Amino acid sequence: MRRPLIAGNWKMNLTREESVSLASELCRADSSNTDILICPPYVYLDAVSQAVAGSSINVGSQDAYFEASGAFTGEISVGMLKDIGCQFIILGHSERRHVLGESDLLINKKVHAVLSGDLTPIVCVGETLEEREAGKTLDVIKSQFDGSLAGLTADQIKKTVIAYEPVWAIGTGKTATPEQAQEVHADLRRILAERYNPETSEEVRILYGGSVKPDNTAELMAQADIDGALVGGASLQSDSFIDIINASGVSAG
Ligand code: PGA
Repeated sequence: MRRPLIAGNWKMNLTREESVSLASELCRADSSNTDILICPPYVYLDAVSQAVAGSSINVGSQDAYFEASGAFTGEISVGMLKDIGCQFIILGHSERRHVLGESDLLINKKVHAVLSGDLTPIVCVGETLEEREAGKTLDVIKSQFDGSLAGLTADQIKKTVIAYEPVWAIGTGKTATPEQAQEVHADLRRILAERYNPETSEEVRILYGGSVKPDNTAELMAQADIDGALVGGASLQSDSFIDIINASGVSAG
């Protein structure tokens, strides 16, 4: 049985004061049925970790660099993130792939670095609208899966979280229908079974992301292969994020 994970990706938003206050408000969320994660900007990670200390809320970052230390101006290592209390690291988010030009090869190096550091990578995959309309969704997902997750053992893939985020649904208000999302989640589970084995594929958590809101969470979570959500906009307010957490715990598929 896969335990739901609801992850908030704050992206490049909020002030220090707003971050600490949002994190503190989230400490009242009920985590009995759901793992909860928040991913603030790097500069607020320390303050947010302290604000949620002693609660069951996990803290993660939105990226990391694959080298352990050295002359890499502007980058942050996995060890540094671990040092300030991160447990999860989002990798290969579509904004990093499409706005910042990250390749599957680079993402793959980061995935290995995160797993070597004993943290949990959340690896994002997803097609653009153009790719979906051209009937290429499955090809894109397969190639991102094989590129970003290359070389992982069965034990490592079991520790990895995959997030399916159709690019056309991110920040647009257009959610994939539960059926559209489930179709790709089932494809991902089939790819996992083919590359590893059925038992391993059943253990990997696959999150959906893209305009998740309190009122569409329950029907998404009711799908058999959707194990949680990666939430952008609706994670910036405590009420909506808590409503999403509550809806996910009740209806996990
Ligand atoms: P959104 O973002 O919920 O604002 O669509 C999701 C994401 O990019 O992770």
